[in-house]
Amino acid sequence: MHYRNLGRTGLKISVIGVGTWQFGGEWGRDFSQTEVDAILAAARDCGINFLDTAECYGDHLSERFIGAALAGQRDRWIIATKFGHHFHESFRRTDLFGPADVVKQLDDSLRALRTDYIDLLQCHSAKDEQFRTEGLWEALLKEKAKGKVRHLGISISPNTNVYQTDRASFVGAESIQVVYNRLQREPEEKVFPSCHRQNLGVLARVPLASGFLSGKYKPGATFAPNDVREAWMKKDRDAKLTEVARIAAAEVPAGVPMARWALAWCLRQPAVTAVIPGCKSPEQVRDNAAAAGLDIGQNGHPQSA
Ligand SMILES: NC(=O)c1ccc[n+]([C@@H]2O[C@H](COP(=O)([O-])OP(=O)(O)OC[C@H]3O[C@@H](n4cnc5c(N)ncnc54)[C@H](OP(=O)(O)O)[C@@H]3O)[C@@H](O)[C@H]2O)c1
Repeated sequence: MHYRNLGRTGLKISVIGVGTWQFGGEWGRDFSQTEVDAILAAARDCGINFLDTAECYGDHLSERFIGAALAGQRDRWIIATKFGHHFHESFRRTDLFGPADVVKQLDDSLRALRTDYIDLLQCHSAKDEQFRTEGLWEALLKEKAKGKVRHLGISISPNTNVYQTDRASFVGAESIQVVYNRLQREPEEKVFPSCHRQNLGVLARVPLASGFLSGKYKPGATFAPNDVREAWMKKDRDAKLTEVARIAAAEVPAGVPMARWALAWCLRQPAVTAVIPGCKSPEQVRDNAAAAGLDIGQNGHPQSA
């Protein structure tokens, strides 16, 4: 595993993290504690020390699984979670960015994660007017001063949101989380240069384009009704899968698993600190962790090929 500084936070995180939206039950199936334990044990064994969760991956459900799995080993992990929503049921949330609401969400996250501090608390896909909610950032800075939060970050949406990126240092945030992968390169134009100017850490989320960049799905693929790829992502799905097939043939070297190549492709971008692929099994964790050792160079081709 390789490790990089997350901007100016002083946190040294593994370049491959674990995304844990999956544990909330919106990716085709529910998870058990035993499964989550095995996924995070595999991650730890691969040298992964960083994971990303959120208040609304289930109603703090992903956080509860993580809290139980990491009991007794809190010091070995750097935990990122988020605020901004109340989860009702799969694919239905209410946005809540009021100062009192986010402090309550933070306290619920701390309880679920069985910890007294969050390493990185991120604003979760707020609209710009929600991001500007009066008193929001002041309230968060107060929680930080109490020691409940070590660092603040912003998970931006859409991935061109340069307004929130530019405002990061002003509001006290030190990292940006953004969709970035071989199919979605928009942050390269303005978001990454802004991160570079402010020395912000950058977490590339959805680095496998929701699993499509594993190469295992073909145009026409369908998913279970309780899979976000069926519930929210039907639009453009076949177009993306057609483009993945083209990339697989034109860019991925023979013998290199496409998922591993896709993660290494993100990490070759100097602005990116780490990728946080969502994982559903220990095998996926190990496969993804192996991307840390794959150097594909600036043009996307392996150095050794
Ligand atoms: N607004 C936000 O802040 C926001 C939004 C989205 C995501 N996130 C965070 O970013 C993380 C990553 O994004 P994501 O999970 O949406 O998408 P992703 O990482 O691009 O794709 C994850 C999916 O890819 C498949 N996969 C993973 N490793 C694989 C491997 N080695 N080989 C083959 N298939 C593999 C798995 O699904 P299958 O096996 O079922 O194909 C997995 O569920 C999330 O878990 C979450 O923590 C944050």
